[in-house]
This record gives sequence, C-alpha cells and structure tokens, in this order.
Amino acid sequence: MTIQGGVPIQGEVSAQGAKNAALPMMAAALLIPDGTLRIDNVPDLQDTHTMAQLLQELGAKVHFQSNTVVIETPKTIGWTTPVRLVRRMRASSLVLGPLLARCGRAILPLPGGCSIGSRPLDLHLKSFSRMGADIELEHGSVHASLNELKGSRIYLDFPSVGATENLMMAAVLAKGDTVIENAAREPEIINLAETLRAIGALIKGEGTGTIHIKGVHEQDLGSATVTTIPDRIEAATFLLAGIITGGAVTVSKVIPEHMDHLLVKLEEAGGVCEIHENRVRAWASGRLGSISLKTMPFPGFPTDLQPQMMALLSLSEGTSVVLENVFRSRFLHVSELQRMGAEIEMQGNAAIIRGIRTFMGAEVYATDLRAGAALVLAGLSAPDETNVFGMAHVWRGYENFVRKLQLLGADVGIRRTGKG
Ligand code: EPZ
Repeated sequence: MTIQGGVPIQGEVSAQGAKNAALPMMAAALLIPDGTLRIDNVPDLQDTHTMAQLLQELGAKVHFQSNTVVIETPKTIGWTTPVRLVRRMRASSLVLGPLLARCGRAILPLPGGCSIGSRPLDLHLKSFSRMGADIELEHGSVHASLNELKGSRIYLDFPSVGATENLMMAAVLAKGDTVIENAAREPEIINLAETLRAIGALIKGEGTGTIHIKGVHEQDLGSATVTTIPDRIEAATFLLAGIITGGAVTVSKVIPEHMDHLLVKLEEAGGVCEIHENRVRAWASGRLGSISLKTMPFPGFPTDLQPQMMALLSLSEGTSVVLENVFRSRFLHVSELQRMGAEIEMQGNAAIIRGIRTFMGAEVYATDLRAGAALVLAGLSAPDETNVFGMAHVWRGYENFVRKLQLLGADVGIRRTGKG
C-alpha cells in the first residue's frame, strides 16, 4: 500500500463485524446435526472465507452473500482438516471442539507458530484430555479420539480465548456438566455463548471467569439466526488513525463498552473521546502525552491494539512504556517503526518509547495483521510517502480497508507491483 501521509484523517466510518467473533461462531455450526446456522454482520475477509472453505471440506454447505453466511450442516460430517487451510489460519483449530463433540474424533495439522510468537494448543489439548479424549501427535497433526466426551471441571492456566471457545463448543454435547474456570472474558466469547444458546445449548456465566455448560443431546440442537458483534479492534484502529494524523474520526455501529480500555488510555494520554450511543469519536487537541500500557486478557488492554498504540505513542511527548503480557514476542513491528524514525528500546517484553516529532516515510514490511495496521497508521502520519508491503496480512482482518481510509480523506492506494 502506498501512502502519501501528513493529511488529517477525519470523517465517519462504520465498524465491520468482528472477525474474532465470526470465526468461532461459524465453527459452532458444525454442532447442529442436519440444521442451518445463519450469521449476519460477518466481515468479508480472507479469514472468514478460509473458515467457510474448511466447513465445506468437512461436509457443510456454506453460502456467503455480502455480510451474511448461511451454513447448512448435514447429519454426518468429516473429521479430517486439510493442512493447506489449517496452516493458513490458526483459528482453524476452533473446529476441534465441535468435531470431538459431533464425531468423537478429529485430525488437525498443528497450526504452527507465526510472527507474534509460538502459539501452542497445549491448553486446548490438555482440557480435551480431561474430557476423555485420547490425544496423539502423529506426523505434525493432532489425532484426537474418544469413546465418551465427559463433562468436566477445567481450570485454564491462562484465560486463552481459543481454548475457552473450543471447550465451550465441545461441552455443549458432552455427557454431564462442564465448568470452565479462568475462562477468557472477551466480548467475542459472549457472542459465541449467545450463538450456542440460540442453537439449543445450556450455557451460562460467559463474560465472567467461570462458564457453566450442561451437556445436551444432538437432537436438542437446531437451526438459528445470530449476529456478529462489531469489531472493536478494527474500530479502534480507525479512531487511532484520526488522532495520529491530527484529525478526528467517528466510528459508528460499535459497542462502546467493548472499547473502554482504549478510550481510558487515550484520555490518559490527553486524547478526547466522545460516546453517542453506538458511535465513538476521538481526537487530540494537541500532542499526546506519554503513558504506560500493559496488554492483558479482557477487560485489560487488548494485545491486538498494542502495535497500533505503539505507533501512536511513538509521537507522544516524553517516554512511554508498553508491556506485552499476552504473546511472547509480539514486537516485530518495532524494527519497522524504527525505520520510520521511532525511538524504541526493547527490554524483554517491555518497549521503552521516546517520543519523536514526526515519522519519516519509508518502505516497511507488515509481519502480521496488527503490525501492518500499525505501519499504516505511522505512514498516514508521516509527511511524505510510505510503502507498506505484506498487506496480505492486513486484508485478512480489515474489510474494505483502503476504501474506508479514502473515505476518511487518506491519500492511499495499492502499488501495481503486486507486493500489496
Ligand atoms: C485470539 O487468538 C485472537 N484470534 C487473537 O487475535 C488475539 O490476539 C488473542 O486471542 C488474544 O486476545 C482469534 O480470536 C481468531 P489465546 P488465540 O489462546 O485464541 C498462549 C488477531 O490479530 N496459549 O488467547 O490464539 C498463546 O501462545 C489475532 O485478530 C498457549 O500457551 O489467543 C498466547 O501467548 C492475533 N497455549 C496466549 O496464550 C494454548 O493452548 C493467548 O493466546 C493457547 C494459547
């Protein structure tokens, strides 16, 4: 993406549906024997299409029309997932729970690490073992099988979003009751619980650290229509685009309480945030001040906003500190921001950021979805040209990203070199 920066980004855009809610909700369709799950407000992204392909490989019929997905799951589904899809998207691992629940077995190639660090599945697999699954690692794939999926009391060592989601889905058809302790509390977890309840699951406690699921029989589950919540990370990225360029952006169709952590931090740094029902507007009257920030599981500050905030804090007055507590190495964007003039010193999982006046345009590389978004923000702020390569990472999570930025006055385009 080619960016002619230095232009204040201002105006109004609406938030897309949440990628990280839509993916587990799509996987949940596998639980319905011979039924249909319709999901509205699904973002049209590479990742949601990858999930659609995965469901089709397992025997479901998937119809993806603009932002609605209709998934028809037959009585009998497959349980082997293709390596080409699983390696493309770690969230493919979210079919494990439904497959164990419906088929009593599953073969899943290990998703492998990625640019934000190794991303093991040990919490998922250890929990499935507690529920009665036999887990073998053979030729780079997880081979899970079980005679009976037993409701269990499970304590997650870390409130893993994916592990919580996988367990919730498996527990729906387990024999007996399941309690998940130290469960993730993200809004996307609540959206999944609403979906599971809509198809007939007996579940409560979502959004707290303890989720209770009473196992039901397959025939108790049936078709439903549900809606994905707004994408709080995409929405926040646009708010930051306004602030980092001295403009002001309003994002509509959001749920403000899903963004509390960000709005509080922005105000702490001197930003101004206005909330009107389902719209949020943010701007800064002058140069932001420095703050300290640490990423935590929800309701803490989201790790998925850490790279974007690091770009913003690179321009703040004074010295800011960013602690990344969720992923072991989510700092590959630091070297790229430094190429644009950022003064960031790494000390373990802490980034010490000394504020600079302006970024310099440069040729930079996106290493993952949110790092790419951070580099775009820095490019929008730099008073000259920036080229961000590896934008394929960004298209995975930001629907109509270029068009939305252009709507807000950004001078951005795609280079014809095909490097994005
Ligand atoms: C989800 O990933 C999101 N993805 C991520 O968003 C997000 O960054 C992450 O949650 C944290 O909020 C989707 O929802 C599709 P975790 P997930 O399990 O479920 C470790 C984006 O940009 N861990 O909560 O994979 C793990 O390595 C993406 O949209 C284990 O050690 O995250 C990490 O350090 C990036 N063992 C920490 O826990 C396990 O079995 C949090 O991971 C599982 C996780």
